[in-house]
Amino acid sequence: MAKIFILFSVKLVAVFLTIFPLSANAVIYNILNFGANPDNGTDSTEAFLQAWSLACSSIAPAIMWIPSGTYLVNTIAFSGPCESAGVTVQIDGKIQAHQEIGNHSNWVLFEDINGLTINGGILDARGSQFWDCKRSGAYCPQGATSLSFNDVENGTVSGIVSVDSQRAHMAINDCKSLLITNVTLIAPRQSPNTDGIDIQSSTGIEIIDSSIRTGDDCIAIGPGTNNLSVQGVACGPGHGISIGSLARSPDEAGVEGITVTDVTFTGSENGLRIKTWPKPSDGFVKNVLYQNIVMNNVRNPVIIDQNYCPGSKGCSDQSSGLKISGVTYLNVSGTSATPIAVTFDCSATTPCDGIKLENVNLTYLEQPAKSFCFSALGTSSAGQLGTWSSVGQSSAGSCF
Ligand SMILES: *[C@@H]1O[C@H](CO)[C@@H](O)[C@H](O)[C@H]1NC(C)=O
Ligand SMILES: *[C@@H]1O[C@H](CO)[C@@H](O)[C@H](O)[C@H]1NC(C)=O
Ligand SMILES: *[C@@H]1O[C@H](CO)[C@@H](O)[C@H](O)[C@H]1NC(C)=O
Ligand SMILES: *[C@@H]1O[C@H](CO)[C@@H](O)[C@H](O)[C@H]1NC(C)=O
Ligand SMILES: *[C@@H]1O[C@H](CO)[C@@H](O)[C@H](O)[C@H]1NC(C)=O
Ligand SMILES: *[C@@H]1O[C@H](CO)[C@@H](O)[C@H](O)[C@H]1NC(C)=O
Ligand SMILES: *[C@@H]1O[C@H](CO)[C@@H](O)[C@H](O)[C@H]1NC(C)=O
Repeated sequence: MAKIFILFSVKLVAVFLTIFPLSANAVIYNILNFGANPDNGTDSTEAFLQAWSLACSSIAPAIMWIPSGTYLVNTIAFSGPCESAGVTVQIDGKIQAHQEIGNHSNWVLFEDINGLTINGGILDARGSQFWDCKRSGAYCPQGATSLSFNDVENGTVSGIVSVDSQRAHMAINDCKSLLITNVTLIAPRQSPNTDGIDIQSSTGIEIIDSSIRTGDDCIAIGPGTNNLSVQGVACGPGHGISIGSLARSPDEAGVEGITVTDVTFTGSENGLRIKTWPKPSDGFVKNVLYQNIVMNNVRNPVIIDQNYCPGSKGCSDQSSGLKISGVTYLNVSGTSATPIAVTFDCSATTPCDGIKLENVNLTYLEQPAKSFCFSALGTSSAGQLGTWSSVGQSSAGSCF
């Protein structure tokens, strides 16, 4: 077994604590003391795992410290449960991926942890070779999500910068009470499937004060998400904040209690999108509030698409069984990049209801933008009727 040096030096602890004013009795595990090799292209995965293992088994609150420098790390799982009431991962350096991560669905994974804090740091998955492979149509490995959380409860992730993920930058699965704040997620507009944050089967997630500029969804909200709050996020380029796609399989958990406030979309494909496959489903979307939203040159600023059937494979003549109800758009303004800024293309058999628009003012080339509406029931405030000239067929006794 490798020699293990724990940083007991009073002087170094004092220096550390002036930089990070953490609990005075926290134990610090510096990866350099476990053989991590900064800046020389040598793998440091094992050093990260050893430092984690001690931090996680510490009874006292523990800090795993990644000092400045660039560290090459392969696919890695930081697993709990941990002994202490909380582990902190302080990243002052840059973590860089091996190309081999593409053979795994996750690069850096945190799992089964109650009480986790991650601060700072740069994650560079170096995804460009992987995107080139996907774009060439050749056989490619599956591709990794850069930072995943499975079964993590009561956590805070702040100050992370993630660049060039192979697939999504972050994934949140089966988590509870996580705060994601001040994160910056960046990949080129043309990079395939680089979502910002994917969430499913999770409750009490907050994403605030962050910037997400990628090639795919800014945030993708999947089945079983409830009590999610997104606030103060800048999205774009990318495909917008999407609830869905849902109803891919017939029995899915619903999506409920989603609040998106103070969000700006710039040059994105979509803004506020809900998309479901036109397939039978027990699923639902209810109780969604979008408030104080600004669109800058967005192709589909507001869209509900219940006919999401890429390639029309086996679903083009069905309708969605997924019920969408109680969706409020309050104070949505800005510019659309296409004439139709608002689309409600709901299911012919399961209409959307409780759609409410108040103070929605979107323009296209300095004129009021148009809307398309099918099988949707709801209300819109008088103040915005000027922009509300539906071009859709008002069939199925609906639309407003
Ligand atoms: C990288 O640095 C570590 C120690 O910092 C050293 O042990 C290792 O030999 C170095 N590797 C190369 C390829 O320079
Ligand atoms: C995936 O694994 C195979 C076999 O271990 C290896 O040859 C290949 O280079 C790996 N691919 C990537 C992209 O890492
Ligand atoms: C949440 O985690 C923090 C440490 O990260 C801990 O101090 C706190 O007690 C935990 N709260 C709950 C409700 O578990
Ligand atoms: C946000 O994160 C960046 C690093 O990405 C850091 O430099 C900055 O201090 C953080 N801001 C706040 C308010 O914590
Ligand atoms: C929703 O999540 C927030 C943040 O975790 C939490 O403070 C709040 O109590 C939750 N609300 C409900 C109704 O569960
Ligand atoms: C509408 O949203 C904009 C952008 O977030 C905000 O500046 C403005 O104060 C909001 N208006 C009201 C009445 O809340
Ligand atoms: C809608 O927005 C345009 C452009 O910002 C503005 O000129 C117009 O007065 C607004 N209309 C209403 C009803 O607020």
